[in-house]
Amino acid sequence: MANDWATFGADLHLELRGQGLRNGLMNALREAVRSGRLAAGVRLPSSRSLAADLGVARNTVADAYAELVAEGWLTARQGSGTRVARRSDPRPPAAPGRTTTATGAGARTTAGRPAHNLRPGTPDLASFPRAEWLKAARKALMAAPHEAFGYGDPRGRIELRTVLAEYLARARGVYARPERIVVCSGFVHGLELMGQVLRARGVREMAVESYGLDLHWDLIGRTGIRMPALPFDARGTRTEELPALGGTGAVLLTAAHQFPTGGALQPDRRAAAVDWARAAGGLILEDDYDGEFRYDRQPVGALQGLDPERVVYLGTASKSLAPGLRLAWMVLPEDLVDEVLTAKGAVDWVSSVTDQLTFAEFLGSGAYDRHVRAMRLRYRRRRDQLVAAVAARSPGTRVSGIAAGLHAVLELPEGTEDSVVRAAAYQGLALQGINRFRHPTVPRTTDALVVGYATPPDSAWSNALSALCRVLP
Ligand SMILES: Cc1ncc(COP(=O)(O)O)c(C=O)c1O
Repeated sequence: MANDWATFGADLHLELRGQGLRNGLMNALREAVRSGRLAAGVRLPSSRSLAADLGVARNTVADAYAELVAEGWLTARQGSGTRVARRSDPRPPAAPGRTTTATGAGARTTAGRPAHNLRPGTPDLASFPRAEWLKAARKALMAAPHEAFGYGDPRGRIELRTVLAEYLARARGVYARPERIVVCSGFVHGLELMGQVLRARGVREMAVESYGLDLHWDLIGRTGIRMPALPFDARGTRTEELPALGGTGAVLLTAAHQFPTGGALQPDRRAAAVDWARAAGGLILEDDYDGEFRYDRQPVGALQGLDPERVVYLGTASKSLAPGLRLAWMVLPEDLVDEVLTAKGAVDWVSSVTDQLTFAEFLGSGAYDRHVRAMRLRYRRRRDQLVAAVAARSPGTRVSGIAAGLHAVLELPEGTEDSVVRAAAYQGLALQGINRFRHPTVPRTTDALVVGYATPPDSAWSNALSALCRVLP
């Protein structure tokens, strides 16, 4: 091992094999190229820096490089250094054909991807506010104290929890104090933590909506908690049936915009859920993933505001900014904070501090409000265009649900959902039917598409919409 590490150049992990330093180095480099670990075109560290890192003479590395250039493994050109030669890829080729993702419909692909994607679940990633985010990151990093880069508070950075408390109270009517907020890596992380906490409390059942994401049900199911589905009617989820479920200790609700059926939880049913929680000592888990996107009126405030001690509020930046950030937050009843932190501490600490500080600056400076307002306008226009196009091109199809969120439900004539999804896939359009989101115990009663109109970038939106209209009955 080197006595003096190079303070210049790039890191390269190599395990010298065989006899002699030069041979050992050549064998290690050949193996790294052969296995594909060092891809064609990758620039190797200079002989000076690699020699310093390995603790060998510079000539040893220079000789090994020269030999491998002669053998055709590497190339060396004045000014561009030593690189891995471009030869045929040693790794097995990827399997040809269709893409299938966890939620994918297997659409005909262009280079492995559907030509158009109208599956729900992803915002317009091309609209991520890169310049504003970068500005916030720069400002936040310059201002951060040294201690910010340590392990920190498992609840998350205080800067972020403070601005989140203000924002959630102002924009979503959430009763929030920084000490009750826990930053987590996406809604799924918060849900998983709640599953652990509820199981440890002895909860055996959590009621869920008749339609939802199997990913979420699976997460809870893994803790051993059963998930009966609440009945559903034309007005939405029948929370008044909660007492009749008997032993249920919690309920998971998408109150602002039911995913995927698209309604808002009715006022009497919001009240019924809270009444049940108070009477039964139960907990409501409020998934507010789409709460900021209401187009026909001011968004209805969060259910949590009705009883902060009986509702766990879960919000996320996945729809309003980007799912890749993995930034989300929980606002907890006071008596749950320690239990959630205990569950959290056992597996991880918090999301990246730099992202938390950046988001705190982004939120605190008003850039988040501006971004959400701009996206609201854009998504609202898309929804209007979708409604108009469907009315003009497919009189048999009805758009249902409130004007909100990032998806719309297109009700189809009975018995046509599967064939429409298949026809779309054949034409390179990725779509999902509503029955994909149906709870296993709920009978099939409707045929519909769940159209995610946020996903395509602006440049692809009108083509995606035309492709959709072509497959509607
Ligand atoms: C119903 C629902 N809730 C929450 C989320 C957000 O999940 P996360 O924050 O883990 O990205 C999604 C994402 O698709 C969703 O569909």
